[in-house]
Amino acid sequence: MALSQEQLINAHKAIGVIDSGVGGLTVVKEIWRRLPHESIVYFGDTARMPYGPRPNEEVRRFALEMIEFLQHQEIKMVVVACNSASAAGLPYYQQVCEQPVLGVIEPGVRAALAHSQNHRIGVIGTEGTIGSSEYEKALKRHNNSLHIVSRACPLFVLLVENNLVESPEARKVAHEYLDPMLIEDIDTLILGCTHYPLMADMLQNVVGPSVRLINSAEEIAFDVENILTASGQGNPLNNNNPRHRFFVSGSTRAFEEIAFKMLQSEIKAYQVKL
Ligand code: DGL
Repeated sequence: MALSQEQLINAHKAIGVIDSGVGGLTVVKEIWRRLPHESIVYFGDTARMPYGPRPNEEVRRFALEMIEFLQHQEIKMVVVACNSASAAGLPYYQQVCEQPVLGVIEPGVRAALAHSQNHRIGVIGTEGTIGSSEYEKALKRHNNSLHIVSRACPLFVLLVENNLVESPEARKVAHEYLDPMLIEDIDTLILGCTHYPLMADMLQNVVGPSVRLINSAEEIAFDVENILTASGQGNPLNNNNPRHRFFVSGSTRAFEEIAFKMLQSEIKAYQVKL
């Protein structure tokens, strides 16, 4: 197949992914699964994570710094994998960035709406994400008569970071957060944080089979594919070797270890001071 010069240039450009730390690798994993020929350039702000408890303006500033860094890395789009950063200011990032910028909120919302039968939807996330009400606003924009129950679950990130998801304490914490939501008869629960897909089995167990968990990481990979296809920027070369690059603001070793567990693939990370 003969490719135009523009197609060739786009084929080699990467998809930029930003997150407060390692959690965004759940999004990388889904993009890899769906678009194995695309290159990824990832920035994890591990030195300043967690973003969840920080004020919106600060999270926005940090996210803009990462986007600015990515702009020098030959990217064709930016995925804001971090829910807290998406909630803090997606429209700001879209304004300053010349490439398309995709957040995680809208894809998760659309999936939740597609699955919910009784229109009673739960949303869990960090304090920042839930405090911003961005999920709630996005859901209501689609359907104003939805019953939405939101809850910040700050301890979940700590449980995942400390490898305690399988512990009895984690189950207890999950019941404390989620039982009041179940009383409201939700049939769909949006996992509005990068870390929650990593505890999905335990959460499913706690909420029972009648509640559908929505993993925004899976949903965003669909959107990335759609945007690349619609804009003609996808990689049409399916025999190339994608070049993935990982940058972090904190320790590279800790990141590489966790990345190996999450991606089942050895990666090399580089430290960058923003
Ligand atoms: N990446 C964050 C999010 O998805 C979770 C971790 C943090 O608080 O920084 O909201």
